[in-house]
Amino acid sequence: MASDEKQNAPLRNFWYLAVPGRCLKPGQILAKTVLGEPVLLGRAAGGEPFALRDLCPHRGYPLHHGDFDGSRVTCGYHGWAFAPDGRCVEVPSLTLDRGAEASRIRVRNYPCRERQGCIWVFVPSAGRREEEPPEVPLLPGAGDASPVIDCSLRYPLDADSAAYTLMDPAHIAYVHTWWWWKQARRDLREKRKEFEPAELGWRQKRHTVPRENRVYRLFGDNVTTEISYRLPGSRIEHIQGDRHSAVSLLTITPLTDRETEVHQVLYSTLPILKLIKPLLGRLLYKFLDQDRVLALKHREGLAHDPALMLLGDADAQARWFFRLKREWQQAEAEGRPFRNPLEPQALRWRS
Ligand code: FES
Ligand SMILES: [Fe+2]
Repeated sequence: MASDEKQNAPLRNFWYLAVPGRCLKPGQILAKTVLGEPVLLGRAAGGEPFALRDLCPHRGYPLHHGDFDGSRVTCGYHGWAFAPDGRCVEVPSLTLDRGAEASRIRVRNYPCRERQGCIWVFVPSAGRREEEPPEVPLLPGAGDASPVIDCSLRYPLDADSAAYTLMDPAHIAYVHTWWWWKQARRDLREKRKEFEPAELGWRQKRHTVPRENRVYRLFGDNVTTEISYRLPGSRIEHIQGDRHSAVSLLTITPLTDRETEVHQVLYSTLPILKLIKPLLGRLLYKFLDQDRVLALKHREGLAHDPALMLLGDADAQARWFFRLKREWQQAEAEGRPFRNPLEPQALRWRS
């Protein structure tokens, strides 16, 4: 993995999933650190989400210690009040003849959108603060639906290490084991998968899944699946059958340089998923928690700053991720469009 501090830094000028929409009710605010920056998320009484820098411009008091009445955030120190777009709308200590001075004050706001039931925040680089951001990338096949289920966990890992776990097929048989299914390690099989470059990443080509797999039979006939990975750290799986479909998004949001939040959201037209939601929620949590516990243990080793290896085709996708990340950083530094450097390729590994 790259050791240079700048290469390790999380990418800016990207949308990051801040919170599943259901976790932020109208009139509620929520403090969060995103890429090391204090962010105040909120949802206005009318339903629109917003994101402000969580520091009062007067004396730097965190705004989340103040109040929100659904239309304005009031600082808990001297009562300055801010609209959801960051404009200062009141400075109570100013005499009435100087009230207009307040309108020139702003808290920085972050572009914030709710799409497909998730709230995303755009984290710009210093040079791009005023530019209009691109659209939030929509998940193919999820329509306007909200997730059937979502699960968010914090890992004690930097964003690069968390991204590695997303695209590492070799840890599954050793980490994601269950008391009722301990065969995994004895059952390693050779896999061969075809990959091709895709926008801001790559994808495992769409292929038909075997009929023997009972879970896939729920989707009907001619069931196909496609898995794609894209910067700054998302894995998207789309399963499509002639009766039903499902989309799963696993995405990472760097909080600090030592902590990363992993969000898993699942959309599906399968009616049974609503019925088994409590069970599914527990399984999903358990799966993500296995990686969290792994990260906690791994941290003991990483504290000694060991050299790390990326070996063979099982680690090829991690190598691609770091290559794409470097290309993004170079393109930004040179002020040119990003050029995907990957080529179509088949990978073989045992898992
Ligand atoms: S610090 Fe916020 S109003 Fe003074
Ligand atoms: Fe994992």
